[in-house]
Amino acid sequence: MSDTFAPLGTYYITTFGCQMNVRDSQTAAGVLESLGYVKADSIEDAAILLYNTCCIRDLAERKALAAIGLSKAIKEKNHGIVGVFGCMTAQDGTAKDIMRRMPYIDFAIGTHQLNRLPDLIAAAKEKRRTTLSDEGDAMLDFPLPASYNKPPLSYINIIHGCNNFCAYCIVPYVRGREKSKPMDLILKEAEELLNKGYQEITLLGQNVNSYGNDWGKSHFAELLRALDRLGVPRIRFMTSHPKDLHDEVIEAMAECSHVAKQIHLPVQSGSSRILKLMNRKYTREGYLTLVEKLRSAMPDVGITTDLIVGFPTETEEDFNDTLSLCHAVKYDAAFTFNFSKRKGTAAYNMEGEVEKDVMTRRIMTLIDTIKDLSHKTHASLIGSEQLVLIEGEATKDAAQYTGRIDRGITVNFKKASGKVGDFARVRITEAKANTLLGEEIEE
Ligand code: SAH
Ligand code: SF4
Ligand code: F3S
Repeated sequence: MSDTFAPLGTYYITTFGCQMNVRDSQTAAGVLESLGYVKADSIEDAAILLYNTCCIRDLAERKALAAIGLSKAIKEKNHGIVGVFGCMTAQDGTAKDIMRRMPYIDFAIGTHQLNRLPDLIAAAKEKRRTTLSDEGDAMLDFPLPASYNKPPLSYINIIHGCNNFCAYCIVPYVRGREKSKPMDLILKEAEELLNKGYQEITLLGQNVNSYGNDWGKSHFAELLRALDRLGVPRIRFMTSHPKDLHDEVIEAMAECSHVAKQIHLPVQSGSSRILKLMNRKYTREGYLTLVEKLRSAMPDVGITTDLIVGFPTETEEDFNDTLSLCHAVKYDAAFTFNFSKRKGTAAYNMEGEVEKDVMTRRIMTLIDTIKDLSHKTHASLIGSEQLVLIEGEATKDAAQYTGRIDRGITVNFKKASGKVGDFARVRITEAKANTLLGEEIEE
């Protein structure tokens, strides 16, 4: 920690939550940079501290609050500004509540008003504290500048909000209704990213398949084809809601050579009874039919998922349905969560709470099952040749590069002729728990 005052003019953003938040932080950074601020090397040196929060589960909120608490000491030392935004402070009353409990916070806003950052900072400099609710016109990232991470990976937010109201989920309450970004703006953003040397674009949305629904019908397949024609070397997207994954999207995925053969298709539960209570609007059988369609169109498609255990009333039989579904699908990987009660959602007051130790046992069993399945998938790739976009040095070994194969699995391999941002041909030599090892095939 340095003991000099930070120059007014540096910022540091701490981001919690999903990729949507990562992209929103890039927008916040872009707005700050357009005002002349530069990124601080470390949080201790920053004059503007921003926290982009998440509230998807109780733990996410607790993590964000603990981090924000640490800003008090930094602010005292640097005489800086502390601002909080994102999903946690978009909840009813939360922004006001933390402003009261944490008097060192200068402003708290929700998810929609990053365009107000210049005013908020100006007010904070005059020691005026601001709380903004998310009501009124949503100013999303469409017209705002962004500061992306270094190439080769980038994100474009194509649809904001969510209309689905899954019974457990807070997102529709904190992100508002679906609003699609006009296609010409997406193509322009993609073109700019290509010109700056980005090789991969991940299209983001809570439900990318409903892209365009707010204009009448889904335009997602059309968007994939347009980006493929534009020549984006690798296109990924997340997340897909199974109820909206139409045949046209599967066909576009199969036909567009630049679209990675990877899909994150959260199932949440393998029990049709629980799925109905969750308001997911598909059944176990419907989901398995989708998986069959994906595999027959793209035999090597990588499928990943999200799973919740301990949703109210979940029985051992329901849980076994989840396990058997995982065996049937053979996921490449899965995120597993204990159900967490969120105030304001339909599941908050549901009867039939699952006991904590039952939940723990179930999630451990599920994690083991997923580990086994993904290890089998990984092992089946040994000997195969894969096209890997080199993303950077491996975290544990600077002599190795890391990147992902087309279906999304991470592979590490010894540095050879390729460099960051190149596509390398890699032969898979070994399967680890979460990653692959390989060697570059030199021309
Ligand atoms: N829009 C995405 C999911 C976004 S949230 C989709 O519909 O697939 C990411 C994941 O968090 C969800 O898929 C779900 O598995 C999990 N999740 C959301 N709310 C939760 C809660 N209250 N408790 C536990 N897990 C939750
Ligand atoms: Fe939440 Fe469901 Fe919307 Fe996903 S689709 S963000 S799980 S409400
Ligand atoms: Fe969290 Fe908001 Fe994403 S609640 S998971 S940051 S949409």
